[in-house]
Amino acid sequence: MIDSESGWKVRPLSPALGAEVIGPKVTRLKDDEVKELKKLLLEHLVIFMPDQFLSPEAHVELGKRFGPLEGHPNLSSDAELPQEIFELKASKGGIADEWHTDLTFRSSPAIMSIMHIVECPEFGGDTLWSSTYAAYEQLSSPMKDLCEGLTALHDAHPHNQPDQMAIHPVVRFHPETQRRALYVNQHFTRRIVELSAEESEAILKYLLGWISQPKFSVRYRWRPGTVCIWDNRCTQHMVLNDFSGERIIQRVTVTGDKVFGVDGKKYKPALNSDRLSAQSRHDRQLFMHLKNEQPSS
Ligand code: SIN
Repeated sequence: MIDSESGWKVRPLSPALGAEVIGPKVTRLKDDEVKELKKLLLEHLVIFMPDQFLSPEAHVELGKRFGPLEGHPNLSSDAELPQEIFELKASKGGIADEWHTDLTFRSSPAIMSIMHIVECPEFGGDTLWSSTYAAYEQLSSPMKDLCEGLTALHDAHPHNQPDQMAIHPVVRFHPETQRRALYVNQHFTRRIVELSAEESEAILKYLLGWISQPKFSVRYRWRPGTVCIWDNRCTQHMVLNDFSGERIIQRVTVTGDKVFGVDGKKYKPALNSDRLSAQSRHDRQLFMHLKNEQPSS
């Protein structure tokens, strides 16, 4: 346990990421305490503050202390809730049980997310986060070089909106720490642009498996009323779908900015466009996205 500048207790939860912060009352934060939480978030990537029990309105107010908020672009929540709040109820299929970074199908994906767990089972339904800094840093040098020259197509297919797409670097810079992080995820990343469809499938499978290793991750067991903040620029997360009964979370997300990679694009998109064939279907989505991205001449 470490004492923070504000006199809070900070308990790191794993070597890779995650810390519990005991002491703050998140509805009554002074400006320098918000600064301190931001600092702790940069250090630990995901922080947990138990026993907060937020109203939806207080949740939105808390979120706004970290930046402008955006509602979920595709999934609707309870109409009674403020529009900035996105709610997931297990009883309605709202269980985020695939590894993801929030909203990476957008051209400026959310910077951070602030979640309040309203209801959870007595055990089960833990959430895991992975440090995509650590996952990048522990790749071999040739693999880092390869990944740094690549970009990937992300889409909102999981939300039945496959036309919402964005291309981001496979290795991104964190604008505040300047550290590099892998930036592909199981839920939203479809294709590495500069690799053939077959190569992309193999490399993506490898990278996604690599990122999800226990040594890069932390697993958190919930109690109702806990507030959690994570940095979407250097983490991904998933819920363990191993529970029965209800589990309700509410989340706000802080509006994002453009994602910058390490190098300019080094390679061209790997589209097999010389001659159409049965295999061309594997390139169709990328082809259409790139075509729509081109400024018309
Ligand atoms: C989410 O993916 O935003 C929700 C995580 C959770 O339900 O623990």
